[in-house]
Amino acid sequence: MCGIVGYAGTSSRSAEHGALDVLIEGLRRLEYRGYDSAGVAVVADGAIHSRKKAGKLVNLENQIAEAPLPDSLTGIGHTRWATHGGPSDQNAHPHLADGGKLAMIHNGIIENFAEIKATLVAEGVEFLSDTDTEVAAALLGKMYSSEAEGDLTRAMQLAVNKLEGAFTLLAVHQDHPGVVVAARRNSPLVLGLGEGENFLGSDVSGFIDFTRRAVELGQDQIVTITPESHSIIGFDGEPAEGREFSVDWDAASAEKGGFPSFMEKEIHDQPAAVADTLLGRSDAEGKLTLDELRIDPEKLAKITKIVVLACGTSAYAGSVAKYAIESWCRIPVEVELSHEFRYREPIVDKNTLIVSISQSGETMDTLMAVRYAKEQGAKTLSICNTNGSTIPRESDAVLYTHAGPEIAVASTKAFLAQITATYLLGLYLAQLRGNLFSGQIKDILADLGKIPSKIQDILDRDNEIKDLARSMADASSVLFLGRHVGYPVAMEGALKLKEIAYIHAEGFAAGELKHGPIALIDDGQPVFVVVPSPRGRDSLHSKVVSNIQEVRARGANTLVIAEEGDVDVREYAEFVFYVPETPTLLMPLLATVPLQIFACELATAKGYDVDQPRNLAKSVTVE
Ligand code: G6P
Repeated sequence: MCGIVGYAGTSSRSAEHGALDVLIEGLRRLEYRGYDSAGVAVVADGAIHSRKKAGKLVNLENQIAEAPLPDSLTGIGHTRWATHGGPSDQNAHPHLADGGKLAMIHNGIIENFAEIKATLVAEGVEFLSDTDTEVAAALLGKMYSSEAEGDLTRAMQLAVNKLEGAFTLLAVHQDHPGVVVAARRNSPLVLGLGEGENFLGSDVSGFIDFTRRAVELGQDQIVTITPESHSIIGFDGEPAEGREFSVDWDAASAEKGGFPSFMEKEIHDQPAAVADTLLGRSDAEGKLTLDELRIDPEKLAKITKIVVLACGTSAYAGSVAKYAIESWCRIPVEVELSHEFRYREPIVDKNTLIVSISQSGETMDTLMAVRYAKEQGAKTLSICNTNGSTIPRESDAVLYTHAGPEIAVASTKAFLAQITATYLLGLYLAQLRGNLFSGQIKDILADLGKIPSKIQDILDRDNEIKDLARSMADASSVLFLGRHVGYPVAMEGALKLKEIAYIHAEGFAAGELKHGPIALIDDGQPVFVVVPSPRGRDSLHSKVVSNIQEVRARGANTLVIAEEGDVDVREYAEFVFYVPETPTLLMPLLATVPLQIFACELATAKGYDVDQPRNLAKSVTVE
């Protein structure tokens, strides 16, 4: 996700560093967040001076070397992870407004930007980029010169009250040298307190080289910094306070949000990954929309088959999607590994919708499979986490997951975001085809909206599963069983353990047990069982409970993931971890989390590097 830095300093400090040094250093520290372009704006000589460039920070630095910026003590800096609008110089931040007198940077997604943009365009405002940020900048400019009468903080307050969604916004104005105004809602922002200088950052990494005194800002707060002061108000204009703390992490752990590994951080990012993927997906009438749709919706409504193509964890997200899409849309869904699909002369035609799922958007096997399907006349839709990557660029339609950059090789938050996106796709198709009533879609979206806090509930109890993982550090094999949507969850649980703990692990459909896998069970064999809700589909729960009894009778150590309130499983299990209640089809978004925590903790207990497991690459760009 985007990296944000703000700085207001005095000339006494500028002997040591000017605004530009602080901004570039901060952006370098925030590089770990992933980005596709970078930019800065400084206030000097009564004007805003901005430079921005697609690509890595070095591109921006080269641009500044060619066209130097004047010395300055106030500025904002940004690394962009594209959401609205592809990665380009034009879409990079900062965005200017008010005739170039104001510059703004932004992290997040402004859900109602299209409506605001339409109003501003009607008033004669011209836009240079495809971003939602430029719309927020123009709105701030309008507020500044009209109702706020030249008060930048007041203008920010008026503007944010018109915005919906998630955002951190930072702005500078040429009439206010020495001032940076920032606002946050559902998106991170931390204030850094220095001597004669103050800082803003997406997280403390943005200023960790300059100060260790930080203030955590609350939800819906606006902060105005000058070199000597900071003041905080709520979006309602009332004075507010942040929580001061001192940063005792080193720079490396600050990047990981204080967690020991990126993987653990990313597991904890999951409530936000799901929430952000759900954000801004419906238009003003409450209808679902895709990010980029180059297929006539009427043709999309007529598709007769869906083929999901993906590799690794992304393929398990596809397996979850099959259950939901078939149930909601009554379209047959096949899920196939990209490398298998391509070489078996698959039958696809113009009525087939290919849904590729890829975190990176660069997996060669998936790219080649999509190209092949396109040649056969199929329509292609990409679910992807990396804006502007090759697979979405070459697809007819795109639905981006907003998990933010995933650094750990083993996928966690991208997986949950992918599942969320496939649910949105299923609901979109059901809406297009009239398979579900709008009230039903609304109910499912409401259930999805509750998922982030339910994941947080699981994360708050992670010690239960961590204790179990540490006690099993010597296990040589772990089996995972599940039925229905619990089956891909079991597969993903096993994959995580293989990938990072190098333990033999297998996932099975619980119904297949008697056809072979049960022969593997002997005394003490650990078996995770993903138990469906007792409130769900008839007999599914009791079938899985029977499976638990079968393996237990043969000596297995049964470790159960069950739904809260399912007291019946207790007597058959050595260990139970409860996940909050949710409709069966959405259960993978919860049941996967304890299995991720288990693998991460067990691998850590064995002393392995969970972020960079041996022999594996984050993105496999060769066939
Ligand atoms: C590699 C990674 C996995 C990932 C898979 C698919 O194997 O190690 O974590 O699930 O590629 O990658 P993609 O970027 O296409 O989702």
